[in-house]
Amino acid sequence: MNDIAHLIQSSKRTIIFTGAGMSTESGLPDFRSAKDGLWEKFNPNELANVHALEHNRDEFIDFYRYRLQELKKYQPHDGHFILAEWEKRGLIHGIITQNVDGFHHDAGNRNVMELHGTFRSFHCHTCSKEYDADLFFSGKNHCDKCNGTIRPGIVLFGEALPEEAFIRAEKETNDADLFIVLGSSLTVSPANMFPMLAKENNAKLIIVNHDQTPLDSIANYIIQDKSIKQTLTEWNELL
Ligand code: APR
Repeated sequence: MNDIAHLIQSSKRTIIFTGAGMSTESGLPDFRSAKDGLWEKFNPNELANVHALEHNRDEFIDFYRYRLQELKKYQPHDGHFILAEWEKRGLIHGIITQNVDGFHHDAGNRNVMELHGTFRSFHCHTCSKEYDADLFFSGKNHCDKCNGTIRPGIVLFGEALPEEAFIRAEKETNDADLFIVLGSSLTVSPANMFPMLAKENNAKLIIVNHDQTPLDSIANYIIQDKSIKQTLTEWNELL
């Protein structure tokens, strides 16, 4: 643990990469953990893609209203606030996240790259007119302008990632000499290329994740036996 705290202290540019495991200790289920992952309860192929939005509109809207309702119940945990404090202290320089919960922003991080978009914005799938999340939540499904479907600003399976976030994440990863993964199965591309890109650029790679990941073999450190919140708390006591 001391070695890693020393690495964080001595690194020139540390980038954090988070997945759904970062928010499970806030109460939000992740996607693939065997016990209560979201995809254990719902079929992403039927709900989390553009085909579902266009041909299965009512179920699509019900599913995302359910997810928004779940999200409203929870907030960032101590681990999110530690990362915000570390950015303020210059110990970390940015967060690349697959999460759409907005918790890194809420905790106070400024340099956050949301690769899979965010639940904080909604827009018409046809004409892109923006809508307030509460309007969607209160039952508004269709666009005033063109009657298209109102959808969350998250990336659906099969859609391209937001270009601006992707380009920034690529630059930050190329410049990093320390890359720390927190709570991702690293099974979804292209997001899972970033830890590999960091290693190709001779960064040290740390993976904090309960389950094994396909990139464990290239990591310099792997922490599976401690939760993310516990790990960040212990590192924070040494920094
Ligand atoms: N501490 C450490 N690891 C944890 C914790 C925790 N408290 N909670 C969960 N984990 C680990 C699990 O072991 C799991 O391997 O976090 C990982 C989360 O993996 P996934 O559920 O696959 O989430 P993620 O990697 O973010 O999924 C990527 O898939 O469905 C899409 O768009 C969705 O962004 C998501 C993408």
